[in-house]
Amino acid sequence: DQPVGVAVLGYGNVGSEVVRILQEQVDDLQQRVGAPLALRGIAVRDASRDRGLDPDLVTTDARALVERDDVDIVVELIGGIELPRELVLAALSSGKSVVTANKALLSEHTGELAEAAEARNVDLYFEAAVAGAIPVIRPLTQSLAGDRVHRVAGIVNGTTNFILSAMSETGADYGETLAEAGNRGYAEADPTADVEGFDAAAKAAILASIAFHSRVSASDVHREGISAITPQDFESAHALGCTIKLLSICERVPSPGGRDRISARVYPALVPDSHPLATVGGAFNAVVVEAENAGRLMFYGQGAGGAPTASAVMGDVVMAARNKVNGGRGPRESKYANLEIAPIGDI
Ligand code: NDP
Ligand code: HSE
Repeated sequence: DQPVGVAVLGYGNVGSEVVRILQEQVDDLQQRVGAPLALRGIAVRDASRDRGLDPDLVTTDARALVERDDVDIVVELIGGIELPRELVLAALSSGKSVVTANKALLSEHTGELAEAAEARNVDLYFEAAVAGAIPVIRPLTQSLAGDRVHRVAGIVNGTTNFILSAMSETGADYGETLAEAGNRGYAEADPTADVEGFDAAAKAAILASIAFHSRVSASDVHREGISAITPQDFESAHALGCTIKLLSICERVPSPGGRDRISARVYPALVPDSHPLATVGGAFNAVVVEAENAGRLMFYGQGAGGAPTASAVMGDVVMAARNKVNGGRGPRESKYANLEIAPIGDI
């Protein structure tokens, strides 16, 4: 069988786990895809570091790797926005499918990227961009495509949940716990994105976009982080039978004009101890979806970390590879309703 060529951009927390799975599960993956997955190269910033990799696979020239004729699928795991945007557009416009976990990129540029994928009839998959290992993108874009979603709410940042859970349960120190979240591979390269709510806002934008068939960007999301939360706040919360969680809430809200609007917001909130979200500990995430006909659905699992995130990435790689082998393509983007964003003051 003709191999499907895979390029992995980035060999950090997630990229290294993706490469491990590609190398450890060669036979299984071949069976599931119907052709071998051939790792063509790995792009990094610093090629001089010894990572125990075949030096022939490692390059600092991500652009050249993306443009190789024997690469069919590009897996973007570098992070940031501008460079990944260029690389992903280059890949899509030359007919390669793309898998990315990059929520910052997607929350600003999904429209442009989706159009580039559409123009070349290739896949753009991003299951790992929201809630790590937990399947939430496919359920919203496919399983619930025939229902009307009213609300998507929950905990979508593992780092802040790790910190808030430790502060709530053991009175742990904020700074030390944040450093530990970095050591465990949960935090972003710049953890300001986590603790100030930018990461959760990017994920809320993605969730609102796909749940409500509209273009929502991170700047449309009302955002508050957790950096001002103190041990005294937890004492007050406990006295009320509550804990504190960073919630991400995306809602379809009726407007006086009759056409629904979208509210998307991220903020630390009091959650009663009896509520299911109060029991979500560590770097776990949970997303509750409320749809008109399906009712309430809850998705729960590991929301951050190399291996859990790599699981979601590899699911997308297998889907894209199957499509390459069979000549098909994954689901088209939804036709957009483009609901307006409701200002926070209206909610
Ligand atoms: P890391 O910072 O651990 O890894 C980034 C990798 O990108 C490194 O290997 C780095 O190279 C490489 N890189 C940086 N700049 C360049 C460049 N100019 N050219 C080539 N390679 C470059 O990030 P993560 O693995 O944690 O995250 C990757 C992506 O996945 C991000 O978009 C993140 O938001 C997303 N994500 C992360 C999750 C997690 O739990 N960590 C979960 C879900 C999504 P070098 O090693 O030489 O420095
Ligand atoms: N930094 C992110 C988090 C990684 O802590 O949730 C997963 O997207």
